[in-house]
Amino acid sequence: RRAPDCTFVIFGGGGDLTKRLLLPAIYNLACANLLNETFSIVAVDWADMTTEGLRSQFRDAIDEFVARRGTAAAVLNETVWDWMMERISYLRGSFEEADTYKALGDKIGTTNAVFYLAVASRFFGTIVDQLGESGLTTEDGQFRRVIIEKPFGSDLASAKTLNARLLRTLTESQIYRIDHYLGKETVQNILALRFSNGIFEPLWNRENIDHVQITAAETVGVERRGGFYEGTGALRDMVPNHIMQLLAMTAMEAPTSFQADAVRDEKSKVLSAIHPMRPEDIVRAQYVPGNVGGEPVNGYRQEMNVAATSQTETFVAMKLRIDNWRWAGVPFYLRTGKRLTCRKTEIAIHFKHAPYALFRDTPVEKLTPNILVLHIQPTEGVTLQFSAKVPGPAVRLGGVRMKFDYSDWYTEGPTTGYETLIYDCLIGDATLFQRADNIEAGWRVVQPALDAWAKAEDPLCFYEAGTAGPRDADELLSRSGRRWLRLVP
Ligand code: BG6
Repeated sequence: RRAPDCTFVIFGGGGDLTKRLLLPAIYNLACANLLNETFSIVAVDWADMTTEGLRSQFRDAIDEFVARRGTAAAVLNETVWDWMMERISYLRGSFEEADTYKALGDKIGTTNAVFYLAVASRFFGTIVDQLGESGLTTEDGQFRRVIIEKPFGSDLASAKTLNARLLRTLTESQIYRIDHYLGKETVQNILALRFSNGIFEPLWNRENIDHVQITAAETVGVERRGGFYEGTGALRDMVPNHIMQLLAMTAMEAPTSFQADAVRDEKSKVLSAIHPMRPEDIVRAQYVPGNVGGEPVNGYRQEMNVAATSQTETFVAMKLRIDNWRWAGVPFYLRTGKRLTCRKTEIAIHFKHAPYALFRDTPVEKLTPNILVLHIQPTEGVTLQFSAKVPGPAVRLGGVRMKFDYSDWYTEGPTTGYETLIYDCLIGDATLFQRADNIEAGWRVVQPALDAWAKAEDPLCFYEAGTAGPRDADELLSRSGRRWLRLVP
């Protein structure tokens, strides 16, 4: 169904996020006929530019997006594009001055409005305060919603302060905190796989699962974001948000419905059951020069806007324990890093061995472990690894794999991950957005590590760019006789 009438206001409307992701997402929604006939976009930014100038920048951006998709079907639909462009206008103004909001108010009138904050996080509080003071967040028959990008705070205390500040102006139901991982089809599929099939849930517990591994590996370095990344690091950048969402969806109990609060209640419960992280269960590391995809690359300390003695981690691995009936005694191992050997995000459920070795030549520990892997990206699908008899007169066992690949079953869908999120906000479905307590629960998990690092208690180790990370990360598992799933493209 088409979304209701709405003015979509983008703060940071001339910025990178808007051009790379929001604009293509809105275009895809328009192509799918999901936007209202009266939909319009106001891009707010400080740069001296006209609406015409913005439209021409947007044209370049969408051409690049379409070209990137690179399939024969990827030709810009000019009719849809013209329709969209007629609905776009530019508003030049400072995010900190009341005049901007007055002019915005004149543009919006009494329509429904979504305010998308595609700006640096230091503006989040100010923009929402200003929107409130100008009366733009008051709902009087129409809706007024705010979408907030990450980073949402830089630790537990700052996340709480920001939540409290937003909640002075907005009600919780008006706030849509984005975690773009939740826009990924394969992330949404975790709940579909678990809760719309009968076969997985009976096994999804401490009786049958030995441990879980969550990996978010990237080959890219910090690119042009050195300045931002220096003060952030891999832990803050990826763990309280994206990785905690993956963990929550893997470990949560079944919600009673797919209503936003039912899902978010269960996520909060499982995140708050995570045992405080112990410093010895966490490894932090930084990349030094190496080779990625056959190309020599810099070490982190040689990247632009990075200090030559930087202590910022670009890789983090950790072991977490969840204190509840389902998961007691089942470690969750997480790892994420930049400049690793391949790009891969996956969740691997490692099942326990068969109880005894019927095949005498193969002790149970040598049997191929049963692993269910949920491939989030770049491959999208699910595989199950198990043992099978190798053909021949002798009884020999080998490891085999059963594979479901999204692309074998479904043709290409929306391609940025933001389509679902924007559409859901327009129709008022907050299921895929983070509630205040979800955000705070994520920060609470990592806060002990941040505290220990602030006292420089945890040493930084190093790994060569293009490898699978530091040896210390392997030891985190080998201490208990386990191994990471190999990182291969
Ligand atoms: C962002 C982080 O939130 O997620 C980036 O700030 C990271 O550092 C990115 O590269 C990863 O997203 P994706 O969708 O490429 O896995």
